[in-house]
Amino acid sequence: MSKLLVKGGNRLEGSIRVKGAKNSVLPILAATVLNGGINVIHDIPNLSDVKLMIKILKSIGCSVKKEGNTVIVDSSKLNNYEIPEDLVREMRSSIVFLGSVLTRCGKVQISYPGGCELGPRPIDLHLKALREMGATIKEEHGFLLCDLKNKLQGTEIQLDFPSVGATENIMLAAVFAEGTTIIRNAAREPEIQDLQTFINQMGGKVTGAGSATISIEGVNKNKLKDVEHRIIPDRIVAGTYLIAAAITRGDVILNNIIPEHIQSTLFKLREAGSTIISSKNSIRIIAPQNIRAIEAIRTMPYPGFPTDMQSQMMTLMAISDGITIFKENIFENRYKHANELTRMNANIKIDGRVAIVKGVKELSGATVSANDLRGGASLILAGLAADGQTIIENSKHVYRGYDNIDGDLNNVGAEIVRI
Ligand code: UD1
Repeated sequence: MSKLLVKGGNRLEGSIRVKGAKNSVLPILAATVLNGGINVIHDIPNLSDVKLMIKILKSIGCSVKKEGNTVIVDSSKLNNYEIPEDLVREMRSSIVFLGSVLTRCGKVQISYPGGCELGPRPIDLHLKALREMGATIKEEHGFLLCDLKNKLQGTEIQLDFPSVGATENIMLAAVFAEGTTIIRNAAREPEIQDLQTFINQMGGKVTGAGSATISIEGVNKNKLKDVEHRIIPDRIVAGTYLIAAAITRGDVILNNIIPEHIQSTLFKLREAGSTIISSKNSIRIIAPQNIRAIEAIRTMPYPGFPTDMQSQMMTLMAISDGITIFKENIFENRYKHANELTRMNANIKIDGRVAIVKGVKELSGATVSANDLRGGASLILAGLAADGQTIIENSKHVYRGYDNIDGDLNNVGAEIVRI
């Protein structure tokens, strides 16, 4: 079993460079199949989720080379529209191949991704939209078989919820559709904008990403170009490192970040008493001695407070000077870290989607278990602040989304060891 040992009590001081965003890389890797050409992507983090995406690309006939943090995908020999079931089961976000392979091959077979550690994760919005665009989708024996009689047709799609994955799948599917596809109530996440940039560099015609209405004008398949692209910095990794600084009463500078992408987190960190100094591509955080409780944290689609930062912020509030109420509005089963934090002396009560956190003076080191990616990161943060040593079991979850978190934090004064 993968484990991390964290020695608590060290103040973090220094600077860290943030790497490319996982949630941008995954759809962009899926988009590399569109042009049947050679695409060069820079600043790809070294993550187990990225390795799985590359395995999928290879399994459908693409050749993929990795040179440091650059990945080169040649999709000219793509010859398979069946996405291997075992790989899809390992990574739910591989569902983003649905749109890109369908539009490239006219067909795709992918296993139904099912739920995950965050609770049920339906894809009804993805499927409804593709059907509205003219795809025939059969759901049989746990597989989705999607077929096109003719080209996909541009149409107006109204999402019931601004789903990140559904917005991405529709954008990918619509690149070669007949006419214009309009997505209303689209997800507005920065990673959607990065996908728009990538598709447009290829010769696609997407506008509006970042707003609630995205428009994709279908283009001719044979007119797409090769692309060289740099992935945007990971706003969730940045937020996690800012909390690492705050929880250790540290003073840390993060480089290679886009402050605008993490405004909701910065706002909450200021409310907790931190001093934040932002410039164009960096942020300095100077933590207070006394962490103030924030009245309420409600997770929301971007630009609201991200669900992917909820567990880390809960760890910070666990040692605040008062009571904080959390409401998780995106995923129904996203409080598993709370039980583990309680083992470390945190005072947290859960009732459905609400968590009430009463700050304690100090967390105490314990053996805890990571149940999911961000929850695992929140336990590392707890370990940094705790008295004594913390052992985090199942730390492999964390490596899905953090490239060298132990190395990055150790460089600014933490003591984290992989055991
Ligand atoms: C993406 C991110 C994930 C992040 C999440 C929310 C990637 C690879 N993953 O996940 O890290 O935590 O956004 O910011 O980018 N829903 C439906 N039907 C659907 C699709 C979604 O009901 O067809 C619901 C989900 O159950 C959930 C909510 O919509 O309650 C948000 O899901 P969505 O935005 O789609 O998240 P993901 O794309 O899965």
